[in-house]
Amino acid sequence: MTSLAYRAATLACAEEIAALHAESWRRTYRGIFRDEFLLGDLERERRAVWRARLASPRASTLGLVASDERGVRGFVYAFERGDPGWGVFIDNLHVAASHQRAGVGAALLAAVARWASHVSPGVAPYLWVLEPNVRARQFYERRGASLREATVRENPGGGTATYLRYAWTDPTEMAARTLTACVDLVGTAPPHVRLPPSR
Ligand SMILES: CC(C)(COP(=O)(O)OP(=O)(O)OC[C@H]1O[C@@H](n2cnc3c(N)ncnc32)[C@H](O)[C@@H]1OP(=O)(O)O)[C@@H](O)C(=O)NCCC(=O)NCCS
Repeated sequence: MTSLAYRAATLACAEEIAALHAESWRRTYRGIFRDEFLLGDLERERRAVWRARLASPRASTLGLVASDERGVRGFVYAFERGDPGWGVFIDNLHVAASHQRAGVGAALLAAVARWASHVSPGVAPYLWVLEPNVRARQFYERRGASLREATVRENPGGGTATYLRYAWTDPTEMAARTLTACVDLVGTAPPHVRLPPSR
């Protein structure tokens, strides 16, 4: 596998991120999200989301991609603030099936931890993971996140599922648990992205 570069997501990546997002949802959420949603024009739905996010970037978000010469292989997107009382909210983390188990997810998570230490110190970073997504749950648990609550929610495209909130105590703990996966972010960040300092 060729080495990957980690950089800020820009509008130019929107199509590729959307395609990877749709592919990852189809693979991961089959049997959880409705078939007609997953097998429909999911790319178009995701493209609209990513174009809107990346066309009007906000200082309170962090979007990063891991890519090689053939395109985007993984991405993460996080908000500085989510639910009241909680810290940075990691909304999306996906790695192409061809590039999993190579440290890409851990590296993206480590970059979020560094960012969270700067923008939201002392408050618990968190994410929601679908209950049946055991592999992702184990991935987060092995990196120090713990299950905090469960709630039944409507899925994109309809239907409901149980969503689990996983959180770290604070960004320092998250950074410590993901420390082995430091990333050197290359390229110039657009002004809205406050990249965490390099190691
Ligand atoms: C969950 C997900 C993001 C993890 O990404 P990833 O890039 O595969 O994660 P990593 O490679 O960093 O770590 C996965 C495992 O591979 C191992 N690994 C890392 N580098 C490795 C290598 N070179 N060789 C073999 N194994 C390796 C890691 O140790 C880790 O194992 P562990 O969790 O038992 O410690 C990815 O599986 C994914 O995109 N899943 C589908 C979408 C999804 O569920 N997203 C989360 C939604 S909440």
